[in-house]
Amino acid sequence: MLVSSKILNGINGTVKIPGDKSISHRSIIIPSISKGVTQVSNLLRSEDVFRTVNAFQSMNVNIQVNKDDVIIEGRGLNSLIKSDKVIDLGNSGTGARLLTGLLSSQNFNSTLVGDTSLSKRPMARITKPLELMGAKFDNNHNKLPLKIYGKKLHKIDYELELPSAQVKSGLIFAALNTEGRSKIVEKKITRNHTEIMLGSFEADIEINKVDSENHIFVKGKKELVPKNISVPSDLSSASFFIVAALINKNSFITMNNINLNPTRDGILRALNLMQANIQINNKRTTNGELIGDLEIKTSELKGCELESDNARLMIDEYPILSIAAAFAKSPSIFKGLGELKVKESNRLELIRHNLHNCGIFCKASGEDLFIDPTKKISPKENQIKTDNDHRIAMSFAIMGMKLGVDLYIADSEFIKTSFPNFIGALNNVGGNLSE
Ligand code: S3P
Repeated sequence: MLVSSKILNGINGTVKIPGDKSISHRSIIIPSISKGVTQVSNLLRSEDVFRTVNAFQSMNVNIQVNKDDVIIEGRGLNSLIKSDKVIDLGNSGTGARLLTGLLSSQNFNSTLVGDTSLSKRPMARITKPLELMGAKFDNNHNKLPLKIYGKKLHKIDYELELPSAQVKSGLIFAALNTEGRSKIVEKKITRNHTEIMLGSFEADIEINKVDSENHIFVKGKKELVPKNISVPSDLSSASFFIVAALINKNSFITMNNINLNPTRDGILRALNLMQANIQINNKRTTNGELIGDLEIKTSELKGCELESDNARLMIDEYPILSIAAAFAKSPSIFKGLGELKVKESNRLELIRHNLHNCGIFCKASGEDLFIDPTKKISPKENQIKTDNDHRIAMSFAIMGMKLGVDLYIADSEFIKTSFPNFIGALNNVGGNLSE
């Protein structure tokens, strides 16, 4: 249980944001199937990422986790060895979808399991297109546990049915170990960390922009060549601090080396529309990823209207954006949030429920969320329900520091899946969280 209490003096200082979660997963997976040694620095040391590390260690990849870096000795595309136990991916949807793709084209069987939350999440989105490549699974109504019968697959020509970087990446990983040139079309662009990293590892991957679509071609069976990786800091994790500084008076924070990949920066665009005072300095590229340094000052936010196209550019940031909207001077509407219902929890419902409990007028209608901070309603209770969801817990921790009452946040231990030092980092810059 985490208690979040009002702060009096603003959020101030420099915050060291941990490594990006999406890139960290890929920084284990891609080196593990490349031929040679990769050094990874600033890997996110969180439970989700360690699940991926453990998975590859159990498949005979030598991964050394040192104090300052991680060293991975990959032996090639087809060199993994059957794990002698089930592969437990804990809370991680990214681990589950990416490994399903990768393992379906290996020449051994595997079984993936996860925690209660992950075992409720849909897997058909990745198993169905993989079946078109000849992949074979035994599963429990398309949920984990999932048995994967690893086998030789055939190339695919496939248009993604839903904009999902996890599905796209799982298919790309399957195609890497499959003869021929696969084609994956994404009509709506999603985060492209897999394509960027594979490009730098000299995969035979080509991305053609056709109008607003991406046509991704992957020629399989070419061994990957290792490149050292420096993982940028995670914009999703930074967003909790950004919003904390924006909504609390007398605040000014800086955060360096933040990933600004344009397929991920929807939160900055949204906050910009809300008239947030955010300055980006020193933009540069590392390992093909755009990064920069951020300065954030207290701002008087106004509400905004976001169309559904925005959702895939910031799907993980709606919980914390909703907190910003709750303290804006006018209403907000966020459209097309259906995917929020199948994340670590039903985030759409939990945002609505918890905002309402905190006395903020909020309505979810279909896939849209409407928040009106100008309408006064009375707060119901100060218990925050998280259903074991790390981002709901962190978002309402930020809420509590601004409200006049203490908020009690259930299941806050799940924060360690993505940001183990969240409480310490926030208290360091003026937060008021206690366990
Ligand atoms: C991720 C993709 C997104 C995101 C998740 C991380 C990734 O999921 O929500 O936290 O690393 O590929 P979808 O692919 O389901 O949109």
